[in-house]
Amino acid sequence: MMTKARSLPIAGRAAREPVASALDLEAEITRLKTEKNAVVLAHFYQDDEIQDVADFIGDSLQLAQAAATTTADVICFAGVHFMAETAKILNPDRIVVVPDMEAGCSLASGAPASKIAAWKARFPGAVLVSYINCSAAVKALSDYIVTSSNAAKIVAQIPESTTVLFAPDKNLGGFINKKLGRAMKLWPGTCIVHDTFSERKILGLKERHPGALLLAHPECDDVILRMSDYVGSTTGIIDFATKSESHAFIVATEPGILHAMRKASPEKEFIPAPPEANCACNECPHMKKNTLEKVYLSLRDLTPRIEMEDALLRAARLPIQRMLDLSR
Ligand code: 13P
Ligand code: SF4
Repeated sequence: MMTKARSLPIAGRAAREPVASALDLEAEITRLKTEKNAVVLAHFYQDDEIQDVADFIGDSLQLAQAAATTTADVICFAGVHFMAETAKILNPDRIVVVPDMEAGCSLASGAPASKIAAWKARFPGAVLVSYINCSAAVKALSDYIVTSSNAAKIVAQIPESTTVLFAPDKNLGGFINKKLGRAMKLWPGTCIVHDTFSERKILGLKERHPGALLLAHPECDDVILRMSDYVGSTTGIIDFATKSESHAFIVATEPGILHAMRKASPEKEFIPAPPEANCACNECPHMKKNTLEKVYLSLRDLTPRIEMEDALLRAARLPIQRMLDLSR
């Protein structure tokens, strides 16, 4: 019997065999992981079905830590490009594949290395702290890499007399400034997803759900952070809701996180924070480029692969390693 093709090869790329719709992708992914000694690392913003086939799901720090310690020959990174690039920097000798090479990040693309270098040159003696959501070239210019879960801890260790430049997320940088009473200079970048949450609609939700706690990612605008009951990384948000005695939560981050929150606390209610416009723009268009089929294809064909020049890899590794050491 003829089986229907799921997808056509993408124009301009190496042609791929169409995948038969009868194929059990979950079973095939499990088989390929064993055959190729591969692991699937996934971020909480991935589709539920991708999270369910992953060997490890985590926030950016945990994913970097998992990448640093894996013994697998192949890492399939179901997240966005900067995360997979970090995995490659930590594993130059392993194969790192991504389901979709086009899965980028608005923060990373809003901070080109040439502009960050010019900004840094204006402040001789300053220290550059970069959020992990940036390119390898920006990492190579940085003194420290941080994530949303360790930024305060790492910045607190830099002497107060030092001028600190923070790139590329001004909301996370502003949140850390307030928390630590610092005055880091902030690159004016934002995340297209976290910038969309509507204060007006969240206030409406709070009225309709009295007692619901507002949990927010620090990439949200200050106006949302100020009204939040908890601000933290994706793992921080999940852990807070799991341990909390409250039963309802408004969640101001990408709604992919709700899968893990509902799994951890099936009896609790999780309400995604809405964007101002009537759109699905609280979903990360980059994270959502990945599909289960693309995870399967990347494991089957071991492509697309993250590759980079040795010099860049070595330079970008230093501030990442510094972060991992300071996060222990
Ligand atoms: P976390 O490190 O908190 O998982 O955040 C990653 C990210 O891209 C948030 O938009
Ligand atoms: Fe980048 Fe925002 Fe998507 Fe996170 S949610 S990967 S910061 S665009």
